Amino acid sequence: METTFGNLKRIQLFEFEDFGWFPAWLRVCMTNLIVILQKMIGIPELLAKMIADILKSKNLNTIVDLGSGSGGAMPEVLASLHKINGLEEVSLIMTDMYPSPEMLKKFNSKTSDNISYLETSVDATNISSAPKGLKTMMNSFHHMRPAKARAILESAQRTHQPLLIYEMGDNNIPLLIWWLLLPISLVLLIIMVLFMTPFVKPLTCRQIVFTYLIPIIPICYAWDGQASLPRMYTLKDLELLLDGLGSENYRWEKGHAKKQNGKKQGTYLLGLPN
Ligand SMILES: C[S@@+](CC[C@H](N)C(=O)[O-])C[C@H]1O[C@@H](n2cnc3c(N)ncnc32)[C@H](O)[C@@H]1O
Repeated sequence: METTFGNLKRIQLFEFEDFGWFPAWLRVCMTNLIVILQKMIGIPELLAKMIADILKSKNLNTIVDLGSGSGGAMPEVLASLHKINGLEEVSLIMTDMYPSPEMLKKFNSKTSDNISYLETSVDATNISSAPKGLKTMMNSFHHMRPAKARAILESAQRTHQPLLIYEMGDNNIPLLIWWLLLPISLVLLIIMVLFMTPFVKPLTCRQIVFTYLIPIIPICYAWDGQASLPRMYTLKDLELLLDGLGSENYRWEKGHAKKQNGKKQGTYLLGLPN
């Protein structure tokens, strides 16, 4: 039975990419688009600033990203960190519940960039089994049902591991409005995919064919993108999830992340050992 955490605004919709039967190549094509979207809205810069502060304050040299998909903003974040004095040697270990052979090949082919992608499946709910370092969950926490989400937070605190959770979207509109706007939002997202696809690197025949000829990618991406929003934990939801957590030895901090121009962009939850 699902544990309840009071009145969460988050709801449990399905996303295609969560299904074990969903073809791995299609999941990769979709997460490739999330990379482009994040670049377009300046997420790598925002995250680089946040992560640099954490690494410096905690004297850490390794980032272990959970639910990495196609990498999201993290490879770019790492490149920015390497330009900062004292962070030139930081390394990034990417992991996923469904690591794709394509991503393993892409990120494990050279060692000089301090990036690796673990071949074994890493379930973010089993945080204690992941390698040591700053754990990050970028745009993947909303995939966790409340009991699992809580288990992740408990596990980070229990094992004294620093954890940064970030979602670039915001679950800030009433659900009824979300449903009413859904048809138009889906159409807009599908059109956006048509424009973003040429920027995917490397751009495969599969990504082109299943976008422009048989548009499975835009349809699945549009649904998952829209469904992500009401699945996100609001700041108030996070407060409910955190109930009873936080101690002398471990503290939690949350808020809206801000871009350099001061504009809010998504929410973060940061757990740090004292
Ligand atoms: C929306 S994608 C985000 C990918 C990337 N972090 C980004 O920002 O672009 C979510 C990823 O979480 C992964 N995922 C879902 N459930 C997971 C779990 N329990 N443990 C680890 N990864 C999970 C999916 O396979 C997918 O790659």
